[in-house]
Amino acid sequence: MKKRVGILTSGGDCPGLNAAIRGVAKALYERMGDQVEIYGIADGYTGLINGEYKKMERLDFSGILTRGGTILGTSRQPYKKIQVIGEDHVDKVANMIDNYKKMKLDCLLTLGGNGTHKTANLLSQNGLNVIGLPKTIDNDLYGTDVTFGFHTAVDIGTEVIDRLHTTAASHSRVMVVEIMGNKAGWLSLYTGVAGGADIILLPELPFSYEKIAQAVMKRVENGHVFSIVVVAEGAFSKSEEKMKRKERLAARGCPTVTPQVVRYITEQTGIETRSMTPGHYLRGGSPSAYDRVLATQFGVYAAKCIADGIYGVTVAESGGRIIHNKLSDIAGKAKPVPADHQLVQVAKSLGIAFCN
Ligand code: F6P
Repeated sequence: MKKRVGILTSGGDCPGLNAAIRGVAKALYERMGDQVEIYGIADGYTGLINGEYKKMERLDFSGILTRGGTILGTSRQPYKKIQVIGEDHVDKVANMIDNYKKMKLDCLLTLGGNGTHKTANLLSQNGLNVIGLPKTIDNDLYGTDVTFGFHTAVDIGTEVIDRLHTTAASHSRVMVVEIMGNKAGWLSLYTGVAGGADIILLPELPFSYEKIAQAVMKRVENGHVFSIVVVAEGAFSKSEEKMKRKERLAARGCPTVTPQVVRYITEQTGIETRSMTPGHYLRGGSPSAYDRVLATQFGVYAAKCIADGIYGVTVAESGGRIIHNKLSDIAGKAKPVPADHQLVQVAKSLGIAFCN
C-alpha cells in the first residue's frame, strides 16, 4: 500500500531544514521506492489551513543539503490563536484536518520549534498521524539535547563576536552584542563562551546593572579597557523580574534591554560603548557540517518511524543517540538554561560575569 506523506516547516526558519527534508525524502525513497508519495505543504500550518500543497518529485530533494532556509516556505501561526475563529470565520483546526483527509495523507511531518510542536500535538490528539522534527536556533525544545540550526547559529554568532573583539580592543571600547533567544539563553551562552565574552546576560538569570559596571571596571583594573558583553534578546534586569514580558517592553519603550545596558555602561564607566545586533543574520545561510549531519540523522529516523507506523512522536537526540518522544510528553514544555548548567559553571570558572 502506497504511503502518502505530507511535510511542512513552521515557525522561524533555520539552517538545516532542507537537510532534514532531504534526509526524510531520500530515506523514504530508499526504503519504499515508488510506494511513497511526498507532498510539500507551503508556508507551514498556513498552507495546511488553506490547502496549499504540491506533490514533490525525487529531484525536488536534490541539491538542497547545503541550502539555508526552507524550500517549502514557512510562517508563524501562533498556537494561542490556532483554536480561535477570527473575523475571517476560518476554523483553522477543522481546515487542517479536512485538508489532511483531502490529501489522503497517511502522516504529516512537522518541522519546527515549541509552537509548532504544540500544534502538532493538537493535531495528533485530533486523530492525525503526526511526527515532529525539532529545529530552532534557540535550542529550547524540551526532550532533546539539541535542535538542528542551533550549532550553525553558534558558529555565526561566534564569528560576529570574534570580529567585534578586534575592533573593541583597537578602540578600547565596550561592545555589546545582542544575540537572538527570546525565552532561552542557549545561543548567548554558547556564543559567549566560544567568542570569549566577558559578560553574558541570559533571560534565565536576571541581571543587576551595578554588577555589569563592576565587571567592566574589574577588567579595566586588570589592564583590559575593552570588554565584550553578550546580551540575550530576552534578557532582563532584576528590577524587571516581576513584570510580564509585555509590561517590560512597554516600560522600556523598546523590545530588548540592549539600549539600556549600553547607556548604563557608558554613564557608569565613562568607556565608549557600542552595540550591534546580528538578528536574523544568525538564522540565515548554509547549515554547518554538524547541523547537516544532525538534521540528516533526524530525517532518516523520521522515515523509519513512518515505515514502522510510529506516530504521535517527535524525533530527538538524547545522550548522543537519536530517539523519539511522545508529542504529548513534550508539547508545551520549555528547556531553559538551568542556572547550574555545566557550561554556566565553566564560564564562571573563567571569570565570565553573568551579573545575576
Ligand atoms: O527562531 C527563533 C527566534 O530566532 C527567536 O530567537 C527570535 O525571538 C525569533 O525567532 C524572531 O523571529 P521572527 O522575527 O522571524 O519572528
